[in-house]
Amino acid sequence: MLKIENISVKGGNSLILKDISLHINENERMIIFGPNGSGKSTLIKSIMGISSYKILKGKIFFSNVDITNIPISKRAKMGIGIMYQNPPKIYGFKILQIARYLSKNELEIKEIAEKLKVDQLLKRDLNVDLSGGEIKRVELFQILLQKPKLLLLDEPESGVDIENISIMGNVLNEYIKKTKCSALIITHTGYILDYIQGEKGCIMINGKITCQSYPQIVFDMIKKYGYKKCEECKWK
Ligand SMILES: Nc1ncnc2c1ncn2[C@@H]1O[C@H](COP(=O)(O)OP(=O)(O)O)[C@@H](O)[C@H]1O
Ligand SMILES: [Mg+2]
Repeated sequence: MLKIENISVKGGNSLILKDISLHINENERMIIFGPNGSGKSTLIKSIMGISSYKILKGKIFFSNVDITNIPISKRAKMGIGIMYQNPPKIYGFKILQIARYLSKNELEIKEIAEKLKVDQLLKRDLNVDLSGGEIKRVELFQILLQKPKLLLLDEPESGVDIENISIMGNVLNEYIKKTKCSALIITHTGYILDYIQGEKGCIMINGKITCQSYPQIVFDMIKKYGYKKCEECKWK
C-alpha cells in the first residue's frame, strides 16, 4: 500500500528526515512514536505532498505507483487521506461545503455528522473558533466522507479530552475494521492504542526511524526507558 524508500526531506533550510524507509501493507496499521520535533509530522506531510517540504532523495510509492512528485490533489484522489495535527482555519468556508464536496450523499453526511457530534457545527467556518476536540472531530468527519485507502493520522488524540478520544477512537476503529484500510498513525501519548492496536510500531528520533516492533512493545519500552534510551540504543 505504501512503500517509502530512503527519503531525505528538507523543510526551509533544515534537513529534517534522513534516509527514512518504511513499508505498510494492505490492511496494516503502523504506529509511530517519537519526541516533539523529531520529524513525525514532516513524514506524514511529505507522504501527502505538502509543498513546503522538499524530497531531496528517495521515492514514495502508493499502490505501486511512484507518487514522489505528484501534486497533493492527485494523491487525495488516489486514496490518501490526512488528519492534521494542526489543521488550517479557513474563513468564509463552511464545514458543510467541504462535506458536500467530499460526498454527494446527504444522508451519509447527516449520519456521520451525528455520529461524530459535529451536526451542530456544519454552518461554522472550517476550524475557526472551534475547540480542540471539535477540530479533531471535524477532521475525522472529513476523513470518513473522503474514504481513503491509506489514513495518515497525525496525533489524533492531541489536545483532546478523554470523552472525545473515546468517540474518535471508536469511530476510527469501526472504519478500519469495515474498510480494512491501511494507516500510519502518529501518537505521542499512546492513548490511541486503546482503540487501534496496529500491527507495526516504530520510533522516530531526530529524523530517523529506530526500534521497529509491535506497537505495544515499543510503547512499553518508551514508558520503561524513555526516548533518551531509545536514542542511545540506535547507535549500538
Ligand atoms: N517547513 C519547515 N521549515 C523549517 N523547519 C521545519 C519545517 N517544518 C518542520 N520544521 C522543523 O523540523 C523539526 C521537526 O518538525 P515536525 O515534523 O513537526 O516534528 P514532530 O511532528 O515530530 O513534532 C522541528 O524542529 C521543526 O521546527
Ligand atoms: Mg507533529
